[in-house]
Amino acid sequence: MSSRLEAEQLYKVFGRRPDEAVDRLREGADREGLRAEGTTAAVIDASFTVDPGQIFVVMGLSGSGKSTLLRMLNGLLEPTAGHVRFDGQDLTALSDRELRAVRAQKISMVFQHFALFPHRSVLENAAYGLAVQGVPKAERVERATEALELCGLKGWEKSWPDELSGGMQQRVGLARALATDADLLLMDESFSALDPLIRRDMQDQLLQLQKTLKKTIVFITHDLNEAMRLGDRIAVMRDGRIVQIGSAEDILVRPADDYVASFTKDVDRSRVLTASAVMDTDVSGATADCGCADDCETATPDTPFTELCAMSARSGHPVAVLDAKHRLVGVVAQERLIGFLGDAESAQEAAHA
Ligand SMILES: Nc1ncnc2c1ncn2[C@@H]1O[C@H](COP(=O)(O)OP(=O)(O)OP(=O)(O)O)[C@@H](O)[C@H]1O
Ligand SMILES: [Mg+2]
Repeated sequence: MSSRLEAEQLYKVFGRRPDEAVDRLREGADREGLRAEGTTAAVIDASFTVDPGQIFVVMGLSGSGKSTLLRMLNGLLEPTAGHVRFDGQDLTALSDRELRAVRAQKISMVFQHFALFPHRSVLENAAYGLAVQGVPKAERVERATEALELCGLKGWEKSWPDELSGGMQQRVGLARALATDADLLLMDESFSALDPLIRRDMQDQLLQLQKTLKKTIVFITHDLNEAMRLGDRIAVMRDGRIVQIGSAEDILVRPADDYVASFTKDVDRSRVLTASAVMDTDVSGATADCGCADDCETATPDTPFTELCAMSARSGHPVAVLDAKHRLVGVVAQERLIGFLGDAESAQEAAHA
């Protein structure tokens, strides 16, 4: 499909002789050595693709290179090496003018602190990107009104930004991005400044919108739970490198290294995991019809973790996992559930949730 985003072996080096630094990184030089010379390798050899309709989350500690990576995706920063392709076009090969045009038409950014114009109405703020595109006034009003409605701000068009709460202001930012009809949305910690409940709301709203709009979205966050909720795929960055790309479940259950594992220690596993990820697939010696059918609870591979906890607590037996043809494909013992949660207390909580 055309509006796929591709990053190919992207590098961004700040400081002295960046090209030479890239060559040295390719030959195995390490980032710390370069730093000692006053050169920062902010992004090292990043490659990935994002298909239309996907939310690709980039997470990592502060300074790991997330924002630098994002800015290269829309050409705000020129990569030291590598390519960015969007909608079949190599953005890295465009002139500044062509790039500005692509940015105005196809790419929108939403930042952490969305800068609204204080002396323009909510509607004018939402229509700003369209004004930049040169869209005629009547159409601007129509599209911005529609985008505000999508973001739950119907009725607020004539208000001033300072009459809105922080969460609502952030929604105006989202509406501005959506109004332009850009296919690629780049979101840098867009929800991080919001308090937790509003943040959850915004996440839900984005997921809801995405179901119909099917944009190509790159979403940066520090927050693993946010990453797990939103990301179809998640890239974890460490010291400029992408150390793992995978689904929420991959990152949790099959972390590429100790760094990723430590990152995921605190996540609320119960929301992400399903029986297929936690079951013991060695079912030799067990049968679906083990004789305690009245006590045994059965699940499917898609049964969520919290439900498994509840079943296991109810029956006191391992939960049998059956496929669509009622064949036994795995068993989940309570010890196993507890192992995934880290401690018994949270298993109890999950069981009673
Ligand atoms: N313009 C610049 N000049 C020099 N160094 C820079 C520049 N921009 C970023 N860096 C450095 O590149 C590295 C990556 O920074 P970046 O802002 O991409 O990290 P981040 O993952 O977005 O961090 P945060 O979570 O704090 O936003 C850091 O070491 C930073 O100091
Ligand atoms: Mg950043």
